[in-house]
Amino acid sequence: MRTQVGIVGAGPAGLMLSHLLRLRGIESIIIERRTRDAIEATIRAGVLEQGTVDLMTETGVGERLKREGFVHQGFEIRFSGRSHRINLYELTGGRTITIYAQHEVLKDLIKARLDAGGQILFGVEVTGVDEVQSDAPKIRFTQDGKAEELVSDFVAGCDGSYGVCRKQIPEDIRREYFRNYPLGWFGILAKAPPSSDELIYTNHERGFVLISTRSPHVQRLYFQCDPNDSVENWSDDRVWEELETRMAGGDFRLKQGEIFQKGIIPLRSFVCEPMQYGKLYLAGDAAHSVPPTGAKGLNLAVADVHVLARAIGSYYSSNATDLLETYSATALRRVWRAQFFSYWMTSMLHRFHDAPEFDHRRQLAELDLVTSSPAAQTVLAQNYVGLPLG
Ligand code: DHB
Repeated sequence: MRTQVGIVGAGPAGLMLSHLLRLRGIESIIIERRTRDAIEATIRAGVLEQGTVDLMTETGVGERLKREGFVHQGFEIRFSGRSHRINLYELTGGRTITIYAQHEVLKDLIKARLDAGGQILFGVEVTGVDEVQSDAPKIRFTQDGKAEELVSDFVAGCDGSYGVCRKQIPEDIRREYFRNYPLGWFGILAKAPPSSDELIYTNHERGFVLISTRSPHVQRLYFQCDPNDSVENWSDDRVWEELETRMAGGDFRLKQGEIFQKGIIPLRSFVCEPMQYGKLYLAGDAAHSVPPTGAKGLNLAVADVHVLARAIGSYYSSNATDLLETYSATALRRVWRAQFFSYWMTSMLHRFHDAPEFDHRRQLAELDLVTSSPAAQTVLAQNYVGLPLG
């Protein structure tokens, strides 16, 4: 098999890249380990930055998003039993975020690729990526028990945190930066009306809570837990009791309902540098991950492939390699900004139970600053809605 760009992974990065390349007249084939059903059913975050929404709209995959997504012009930060609104719209000159679940984005992109005749090989395990320093890199995979090979001009490694692509960058060149947090998020989906018109990020002495939403009938809630805790330890009653305790105060009323999904995610930060080697280009979680606070993961993957599609486009249209050569440096600037922002939100909003009381007092001063200083709020809001894609 041969194509122009071989893409490993049909997550947000791989699918959006394939879609953007097609609009530039460039062929690609995506190879994905999981089945289409599994991808379309996996529950992830649900906040799209303005730039992600704009890109989806401009490239013809924003129709359902426009119909079914919810535009939010602000969000709330809550501490000491009181909520404080961050007016994103006013602080950023009219920018907003949209609530639309990641797997809905994936459904739209998969459909767009298949409708346009694009090839996505689902349920196929990549066994290796070879000769990335040559002009004909190869992706090796097994399909129906048979060893196959996809030869291409470029390989895009969009295969997530545990993928094989990153390992193709030799260890003496690759640098990996990690940070683990002693934190997990317990996430639930519940059949209930929204408790709030906007998202609420809460710092409580028992730990962080995020009140989010999916629709007028389905709510997405998260609360800080031990990353090694287990879902079995949390009955529905215990979940609601914990949420009620952490959200107590003022007029806020939690609307309860049937919980139909529970899961625990660990919080960690990771960056791999460089994001390219020979003809291999990494994008999305294959190169970096952020803790979920602030919901930057999907948006960062989209920003990476926006840069990569333009670089590959300029290679095919004018034989230029300058944008390809600077891909990693260009992408990493935004990646590190998102790392900073996600770390900031995480450290400001969670309780670090082993930390001295000093840290807690300092945290309250920080929360006071970002909820009262217009300058601090502007920094927060601009980073929350996301930098323009450029
Ligand atoms: C959601 C997830 C986030 O990480 C976040 O910061 C906001 C919302 C969500 O899944 O709705």
